Amino acid sequence: MIVEVILGDITKLGSEVEAIVNAANEDLLGGGGVDGAIHRAAGPELLKECCTLGGCEPGDAKVSKAYNLKQKYIIHTVGPRYYSNPNPAETLRSCYQKSLQIADKLGVKTIAFPSISTGVFRYPLEEASSIAINTIKQYKSKNIETVIICAFDEKTYKVYLDKLR
Ligand code: APR
Repeated sequence: MIVEVILGDITKLGSEVEAIVNAANEDLLGGGGVDGAIHRAAGPELLKECCTLGGCEPGDAKVSKAYNLKQKYIIHTVGPRYYSNPNPAETLRSCYQKSLQIADKLGVKTIAFPSISTGVFRYPLEEASSIAINTIKQYKSKNIETVIICAFDEKTYKVYLDKLR
């Protein structure tokens, strides 16, 4: 499995990326950050489907269609709120693992993640990026060939790139 880090907007990725991961919240009804960007780009149909998903626990993940995005799927995962989650590292690890497992089951070959929890949920970037890279590298994939981490800013990009090296 190839792991890449890119700098860009996850909602602008092409159809060669079959699934993108959304850093959502428990109600799955949209929000700010990447969640807001994905809902805006996918369109109102996404919210309609998310209303039927019954929410999502921190550390868990649920799949929806991608609507106006070029992907086949959006995998919504809820990261740990760093300062209130009793075990943020474990919850964050689970977000990456569950998202990869769902993508694998769907036969996805290329998946892109944002930097989960390092925005509004205030997970320290250094630790979060280590957990992300280690979990992705330890994952034994069946179908997934490429995992992309799509950083939205230069600082995040550099930290993930360093961890990958
Ligand atoms: N493409 C890629 N990454 C993005 C984009 C985008 N278009 N927009 C934001 N990001 C980055 C942020 O810069 C940050 O590095 O995604 C990372 C995660 O930040 P948040 O989106 O704030 O997500 P998170 O910290 O997991 O907090 C989730 O925020 O938006 C709400 O509804 C969401 O309550 C949930 C919480």
